[in-house]
Amino acid sequence: MQLKQIKYQSPEYEQSLILRDKILRKPLGMVFIDEFLTQDKEEYILGLFEQNEIKAVLHLKPLSDTVLKMRQVAVDENLQGKGYGSKLVLFSEEFARTKQYKKFILHARKTAVPFYQKLNYKITSEEFFEIGIPHFEMEKVL
Ligand SMILES: CC(C)(COP(=O)(O)OP(=O)(O)OC[C@H]1O[C@@H](n2cnc3c(N)ncnc32)[C@H](O)[C@@H]1OP(=O)(O)O)[C@@H](O)C(=O)NCCC(=O)NCCS
Repeated sequence: MQLKQIKYQSPEYEQSLILRDKILRKPLGMVFIDEFLTQDKEEYILGLFEQNEIKAVLHLKPLSDTVLKMRQVAVDENLQGKGYGSKLVLFSEEFARTKQYKKFILHARKTAVPFYQKLNYKITSEEFFEIGIPHFEMEKVL
């Protein structure tokens, strides 16, 4: 298993797009649009790989010098519940600390809130709707 940063528009990035599409978009009947993808350029993209194949991905979007927004967290479907998501989130926290970031925020799908709570993320909002499904804002001080 390999945890690493992915370069925008690299072959690994192309793999990550397929994973995000399969896990985050298709189940909601959504597709990527170019405008949505251009923000990827400004973000840190981290992946978990096995035999050079991507199994999990997440993005970190700088909101300020100290705060990152975690987004696009996806684990391949037949590997969910095996600890891959937790490993990648913990790796991303370490990655962010080395760059002097102090806090993560995220918009968690309601179904994923228990996952983040196990990693010590706290709910900081009422329930709200985004892309048509219930979410909560969560945060963790690094
Ligand atoms: C949510 C997701 C990223 C979690 O990654 P994962 O690799 O499946 O999670 P892990 O195996 O690392 O789980 C860690 C712990 O959280 C729990 N957990 C994970 N997903 C959960 C869920 N949806 N509901 C309740 N508990 C969950 C696990 O049971 C495990 O608990 P344990 O430590 O007591 O065994 C992954 O399941 C996924 O990609 N889901 C679909 C897309 C999605 O919802 N993305 C998040 C959008 S905000």
